[in-house]
Amino acid sequence: MKPAKKNLASNQTYGKMLKTTDCYKKLGKSTILEELRAWCDEQESWSQLSGSSFMHKPAPSLMLKDPFIAHLVERGWKEAIIMKSYPHSHYHFHMDLNNRPAAINLLLGKNENCHTVFIGEQYYRNQSRAIELKYEYGHFYLVNTHQKHGVFNFGTDRYLFTLSAPLEYGPAWHDCPKDKITWSDAYYKLYKEL
Ligand SMILES: [Fe+2]
Repeated sequence: MKPAKKNLASNQTYGKMLKTTDCYKKLGKSTILEELRAWCDEQESWSQLSGSSFMHKPAPSLMLKDPFIAHLVERGWKEAIIMKSYPHSHYHFHMDLNNRPAAINLLLGKNENCHTVFIGEQYYRNQSRAIELKYEYGHFYLVNTHQKHGVFNFGTDRYLFTLSAPLEYGPAWHDCPKDKITWSDAYYKLYKEL
């Protein structure tokens, strides 16, 4: 009698489930969201900075009106940028550079039909675990930018305000290979400070 064929799929571990705490943490609300959004709507060119992304540096006098942003900047959070993505576009899955291990993000709008997705390692035949960050209107988020992420925009113009964590946070991240950095360390260190 022939041995039963093994079901290959059932023999796979389906990959470690991604947890939201691996990827992001919801924080408090911004006081200047509408103002920042109005500023974005006034800008004409979104390709002034290098790279393939559409970005703008927000006016410091405007962004520092928000006490939480002012607090972060005072503590060394840096590189304030607003990124634009157009309708029917996809920001490819990527991890941010070593010098940007975590970020504070604020989505400047409601952006229905726009999906921010984190994915885990591929575990079987091109499949990965995935979770979505559903930005709640007006809230800041602490985001693990070393977990692979991408954005699908099937809605309207999307604007995202983002600040990078200072390098002093965590164990000398800039000297660390990516696989030596643990988000949970970063998460708790950063969260303790916020
Ligand atoms: Fe990113």
